[in-house]
Amino acid sequence: MKYSYPSLFEIHPTAKTFLDLGCGQGFIPLYAAARGLRVDAVDIETETPGPLQSIPTVSYISADLKNWKPVKKYDIIVAHHSIQFLPKEYALQEFLPALCKALNPGGVLEVFSFTPEETLNVPTKYTLEEIVQAIGDLEIVKQKAFSYEGMHRKLGPHTFFELHIIAKKKI
Ligand SMILES: C[S@@+](CC[C@H](N)C(=O)[O-])C[C@H]1O[C@@H](n2cnc3c(N)ncnc32)[C@H](O)[C@@H]1O
Repeated sequence: MKYSYPSLFEIHPTAKTFLDLGCGQGFIPLYAAARGLRVDAVDIETETPGPLQSIPTVSYISADLKNWKPVKKYDIIVAHHSIQFLPKEYALQEFLPALCKALNPGGVLEVFSFTPEETLNVPTKYTLEEIVQAIGDLEIVKQKAFSYEGMHRKLGPHTFFELHIIAKKKI
């Protein structure tokens, strides 16, 4: 995956609040906090990721995204390789629309996930069109399906097939 989250802060330079869904080790929340944002970071893991443990402006929320939705509004929301773990119908009809509602005016949503061409055994794969339709209330800033030669931690060299979408809520 080619991370591009620094560019989100160029798209929304006055952003103050940030939500990371499926935050993993917490490196993106750490980056956002270092830029002065207040961050909520969600993951299914019960333990707060080490890098986030002493950061007062980051709140870690241990939750299963299959039954968790934002209760606050945010300026930037990212879901990097986490909606692949959700049932497709729930993701497209409930979860992604809920993220759109949880954006402040001018807010930015970024999604990375796998497309159907991906051969890894991930639970759910999406086409660009499915995601674009699900976030129909937002203005698309970037939409791209792409592949690249990378290194899978178990399989070794692998061709990844992914999608990347950035979208913005009207002011
Ligand atoms: C592939 S990692 C991506 C981590 C990070 N977003 C990144 O891009 O490096 C997927 C993350 O989603 C989390 N996850 C998987 N299923 C989840 C669920 N149902 N609810 C919340 N988090 C989940 C995993 O624990 C893991 O940290």
